[in-house]
Amino acid sequence: MSTPLATVGILSIGSMGIGIAKLLVANNYRVLTNASGRSSATENRAKEARVELVGTDSELVAQSDYILSIVPPRDAVATAARIQDVWKEQKRLSKSPLYYLDLNAISPTTATQIAESFKEKAPEIRLVDGGIIGGPPAPTSGGSWKRPGIPLSGPFPLHEAPVSGEHFASTLYSRYLGPRIGSASGLKCCFASLAKGLTALGIQAYSTAASLDVLPALQDYLDEYNPQARSKIEGGITSCPVKAYRWVEEMNQIGDCFADDGGWNEQARIFRQISGLYAELAKVVEERGGTDGMEKVDGAIGALQEVEELEQDDR
Ligand SMILES: *[C@@H]1O[C@H](CO)[C@@H](O)[C@H](O)[C@H]1NC(C)=O
Repeated sequence: MSTPLATVGILSIGSMGIGIAKLLVANNYRVLTNASGRSSATENRAKEARVELVGTDSELVAQSDYILSIVPPRDAVATAARIQDVWKEQKRLSKSPLYYLDLNAISPTTATQIAESFKEKAPEIRLVDGGIIGGPPAPTSGGSWKRPGIPLSGPFPLHEAPVSGEHFASTLYSRYLGPRIGSASGLKCCFASLAKGLTALGIQAYSTAASLDVLPALQDYLDEYNPQARSKIEGGITSCPVKAYRWVEEMNQIGDCFADDGGWNEQARIFRQISGLYAELAKVVEERGGTDGMEKVDGAIGALQEVEELEQDDR
């Protein structure tokens, strides 16, 4: 194998992290992760993707040219703090500046807070604000890759980074929006609000229709008068149960973005309430021990109703 173009540390190796790792490995990047303390299933998944395991955050920082933070939204601030905490004590091998790409689903306000913590605790690290739009990268049958889009912003354009920056920025299918921290996170909030908001409305409309025993009739009318809505809503309802726990904080972040950046103070509360809806759904998934039986619309709606009935019996 030829010399890697750069070393990339990924925090952490969930389904998006592993997809991006595979894309980078296929394009001749060396990818590291700190999986110590994680399950052996996670370790094996990383090894299968040819990701190298390191034992500590400080080893990850010491060896990486780039660190990608891809964690549940509620962990974004703490994850950045972990890297800042080891920054002072570690012996960095590379002479080039470390780039830290925050690719999490957070509001511009949270992104700004992260930028301030870097300035204070590890000013040498170059923070790039980013978001991920679309599903994990996957190889296509034609030998290329289906990739999510990655808008980026902040004072340090990735394509100008010294270690293969231009190649790295294009491999990630990134798009530079400008020098402001928060532009990229905010764009991601606006994009994500549409599908995830519609799914939340769909869950309420469908479960209410089911309680009224009119769900099949609602589906018939959607087919005739709003067929795109039916397919979007049903795709959302069946795919969201497994992700609902991550969306709880993401919806709060979207609410903050619409309030802080869009000026929708009171009215942005709708996303706080949608956060509550996904919290409820995440609870259903936890109580059932997984999403089995929720892969179809009737199953997902039925599962929600079962829990509602149980709660009513408790009252
Ligand atoms: C990574 O390294 C630190 C020590 O630096 C450790 O406490 C942490 O649990 C490790 N594992 C993960 C998955 O972050």
